[in-house]
Amino acid sequence: MAAAVGRICGARLLKNYGIVTPQVYQLSTSAQGWTKSRKLWLSTLGVVGGGVGALLFALEQSVQATGSEAHPYHQPWAHDGWFKSLDHASVRRGYEVYKQVCKACHSLQYISYRNLVNVTHTEAEAKAEAAEVMIKDGPDDEGNYFERPGKLSDYFPSPYPNENAARAANNGAYPPDLSLIASARHGGEDYIFALLTGYMEPPAGIPLREGQSYNPYFPGGAISMAQVLFDEAAEYTDGTPATASQLAKDISTFLRWCAEPELDDRRLMTIKAIGMFSMLTAVVYYYKRHKWSVLKSRKLAYKPVSKK
Ligand code: HEC
Repeated sequence: MAAAVGRICGARLLKNYGIVTPQVYQLSTSAQGWTKSRKLWLSTLGVVGGGVGALLFALEQSVQATGSEAHPYHQPWAHDGWFKSLDHASVRRGYEVYKQVCKACHSLQYISYRNLVNVTHTEAEAKAEAAEVMIKDGPDDEGNYFERPGKLSDYFPSPYPNENAARAANNGAYPPDLSLIASARHGGEDYIFALLTGYMEPPAGIPLREGQSYNPYFPGGAISMAQVLFDEAAEYTDGTPATASQLAKDISTFLRWCAEPELDDRRLMTIKAIGMFSMLTAVVYYYKRHKWSVLKSRKLAYKPVSKK
C-alpha cells in the first residue's frame, strides 16, 4: 500500500525537471552484515521482551478473570463510533427516568438545569423543570436560609442532605452520585444497562443480607439497590412504550451524556480535525518532496586527483 502510494505520488513529484537525473539509493535491512554477537543480543532482547509482554498481558487478564461478576454485553449504542452523536430523544427520555425513578436515591450534583438547554429541552422547558424543585438559598438580609424555586443556574438538588442520611435510608449502603458513573465504572453504559436489567434470584449458596438483592453484574453479586426498573416504572412524554429495557437504555444514554456533556462537540471536532489535517498532510508532503528533491536527486562523483 505505502509502496504503491509512494510510486504513484513520488513518480510525479520527483519527475526529472530536465536538470538533474534522480539517483536511487537502496538501503538494505537484511541482517547479513550483522556480527554474531549483535544477532545474539538482538534475538535475546526480542525473546525476553516478548516474554515480559506476554506475562504482563496474562497477569492483567487473570486479575480481571478472578472477579466473579458477569461481563456486561456490549449494546449497539447510537453514539458508538468516532463520528456518531448521542441520540438526543433518548437522552431526554433518560432524564425523565432519572427524574421519576433514580432521583429518589441518587444525586446528580455536577449537572445543572442550564445544561439541559438545547440538549434535551428548550430554554422554556428547562426553566419549568428547574422551577419544579425547591432549592435551599441564603442567607437573606436577616441572615436566614430559605427555600426558593429553582433557576436555570441551579444544580440538581440531592435527595439526601448528606452521606450519613443517605446511608441511614439505604441499609448502610451509599447510593453514589450518578454524574460521572458512566465513566467511573468499567463497561460504562453497557454496565449500567446490564446492572439495571440483570436482577435475578440468587443462586444456591449465596447468602444475602437484609435489604440486598442479587445481581450477577455487580462485583460480589450482593447489591444494596433493589431492582428499580420494571415495565411502566416511568412515563415518557413522547409516548414511547416504557418497557424495562427501554427505560434502562434511555437512562444509560442519559448517564453517558452526564459524564461527557461535551461528547457531541468532541465528535464534531474530530471530523473537522481529520478533514483539516488530511489536507495539511497532503500539502506538507508535497512541500517536503519539493524542498528535498534537489538534495535527493543530486549525484556525487568522486574524482581522483591525477598524479602527474
Ligand atoms: C431506593 C433507592 C435507589 C433507587 C431508586 C436507585 N438506586 Fe441506584 N443505588 C442505590 C444504592 C443504595 C446503591 C449502592 C449499592 C451498593 O453499593 O451495594 C446504588 C448503586 C447504584 C449504582 C452503582 C453500582 C456500582 O457499580 O457501584 C448505579 C450505576 C445505580 N445505582 C444506578 C441507578 C439508576 C440508573 C437508577 C434509576 C433507574 C437507580 N440507581 C435507582 C439505591 C437506589
